[in-house]
Amino acid sequence: MAKTIVAGNWKMNLTISEAQKMVADLVSLGPCPEDVTGILIPNFVALKTVADEIKGTSYKLGAQNMSSEDQGAFTGEISWDMLTDVGASYCIIGHSERRTIYLENNSQIEKKLKKALASGITPILCVGESQEKREAGEAKKRVEGQIHRATLGLKEEDVKKIIIAYEPLWAIGTGAAASPEDAEDMCKTIREWIRKGFGDEVADQLSILYGGSVKPENIQSFLEKEDINGALVGGASLKAKDFYALCQEVSHEN
Ligand code: PGA
Repeated sequence: MAKTIVAGNWKMNLTISEAQKMVADLVSLGPCPEDVTGILIPNFVALKTVADEIKGTSYKLGAQNMSSEDQGAFTGEISWDMLTDVGASYCIIGHSERRTIYLENNSQIEKKLKKALASGITPILCVGESQEKREAGEAKKRVEGQIHRATLGLKEEDVKKIIIAYEPLWAIGTGAAASPEDAEDMCKTIREWIRKGFGDEVADQLSILYGGSVKPENIQSFLEKEDINGALVGGASLKAKDFYALCQEVSHEN
């Protein structure tokens, strides 16, 4: 069965001291429900602080990006072993802000995904279409193409380790989330695409997240859908009480 996941992508927000306070507040609110994987994804300089604060809790640590190289003359990059060393076990790969603002292409994303898999870091592969592609009726083609390129040559046992986040570009940071029906339609398409290429077992246990203006008030409406197993949350993951609420909302413990 697919795991329920709430991942908080802090993007370029929160200084080290703000991050420390956020996580201390979060932990003081209570534990992450046992049936939810709550992942905090701070900026690189706050990773160590967050790692220290979540010690002894079930919250997990992730990074927002990583290099496809192991080490060396790559100014401004971060390697998998630096991430592993600091305690990050997840990494966002191919976020739309990396693709559109920093012009990361499918081939770079494929290399990063493979490096994450080879180094034991769980990749959160982001895919999603622009407003133009949606209006042109090409949303599914775009998303399937992105997954196809990222997973080229991978085996079932690799694909099994990937988390896929469907994040339509027009819903990110706009306050205008996709409708749960449209999000489900795309997440189902993703699962069926994976089923065709990698079989039932991989498809059925694949966690597919929806991302784009998710908040505590609407997360349930997405998670109620059959093919949506969690959320990748930006803006609403920055405050302790909101991230705590997001994790509580999707738990079946309450
Ligand atoms: P948002 O961002 O929740 O602020 O829309 C989501 C994301 O970019 O992962």
